Amino acid sequence: MDYFEYRNGELWAEGVRVKELAERFGTPLYVYSKKTLERHYKAFDNALGELDHLTCFSVKANSNVSLLRLLGERGAGVDIVSGGELYRALKAGIDPRRIVFSGVGKQEHEIREALKADILMFNVESAQELKQIGRIAAELNTTARISIRINPDVDPKTHPYISTGLKQNKFGLDMLEATGAYLLAKETPSVEPVGMDCHIGSQLTQIGPFVEALKKLLAFADRLQGSGVDIRYLDLGGGLGITYNEEAPPLPAELGQAIADTISGRKLTVILEPGRAIAGNAGILATRVLYTKKTSAKNFVIVDAAMNDLVRPSLYGAYHRIGEVNPKGREKIVVDVVGPICESSDFLAQDRRLPAMEPGEYLAVFSAGAYGFTMSSQYNSRPRAAEVIVDGSRVTLARQRETYADLIALEI
Ligand code: LLP
Repeated sequence: MDYFEYRNGELWAEGVRVKELAERFGTPLYVYSKKTLERHYKAFDNALGELDHLTCFSVKANSNVSLLRLLGERGAGVDIVSGGELYRALKAGIDPRRIVFSGVGKQEHEIREALKADILMFNVESAQELKQIGRIAAELNTTARISIRINPDVDPKTHPYISTGLKQNKFGLDMLEATGAYLLAKETPSVEPVGMDCHIGSQLTQIGPFVEALKKLLAFADRLQGSGVDIRYLDLGGGLGITYNEEAPPLPAELGQAIADTISGRKLTVILEPGRAIAGNAGILATRVLYTKKTSAKNFVIVDAAMNDLVRPSLYGAYHRIGEVNPKGREKIVVDVVGPICESSDFLAQDRRLPAMEPGEYLAVFSAGAYGFTMSSQYNSRPRAAEVIVDGSRVTLARQRETYADLIALEI
């Protein structure tokens, strides 16, 4: 449920007309709804109810500092995968003891920065990484809290590019290798093994794969206890899907209940790393129609947003609902919504039923709050879009539109 809705014949973001935002800030424009973000964060945080838990928003989904601050103020931690994300999280005032660091390729300087910040833990993905963390921690005279990311070999039944928990994926360690890693961690004085981690994929629409992975992790944690490794944190990653089109993913509460039932009585702090489920439907991308064009094969609506602003349709063939900002009740035709970039893969929608649009009208691309701006680029030397956060009738510019000067600012 989100706070983008049609009232009095036009699209509103909470208490503000989207057309007004588009006119004031220009397009393409990312518009986020604060109430929606809060609602989704709370849904997750409440989902685990009585269980000791921490909700770590996955920064890669949306890394805008204002948005991170807003979540941090509500008690959220974050899941980071780079030094850049750590930098953003700290700038946003996120409590370092609520930061977990995931990713297969943590670099030496990133590990150092995270240790200095005293983050909650590193989700370690290989024996070499573990040794590297141990070495740097010793050098800094500190102890690194770690969990090992387990690859539970579970099919998450999602797009192959965003499946991560299958044995052919690059992520995590299988249980045999993980046992070795835990024993190594236990023997390394600068490393403290405190947790176990997994993340099986993204845009999951069923509970089954989560529970299957959780059961495997719990059985493994029980076996490890015999070797003197005491797991206190269980990080189940992110991955809960959202409705882009007709998907009907489980609610956070249903996921929470399934986790609580499966954990039954064990003394563990559960960590979840939702990204999409918090931010996805809390954002839209507003865009202006530049031209329309009818060829012998297709109707094209050419808009000012492109694959550099929102790459998901081009990259994954992802569906994003598109609607008029000011519907006029016109008959629908079948169109491709495309951007100005010089590639045939530059589309936001293909063969979509939309009214015959006129130049100058605005469209809203829905469910663009996660993996929208964060995956954007300057391809074709297009300055990146602006981002605004709406809170009731208040609007805050969360990121200025880039300028031409920004495009070449770092070039010598
Ligand atoms: N934790 C880890 C370790 C992850 O790798 C990810 C996402 C998450 C949490 C958050 O997953 P979420 O709750 O958002 O599903 N660019 C793709 C999604 C890639 C997801 C990568 N990892 C897309 O646009 O669909």
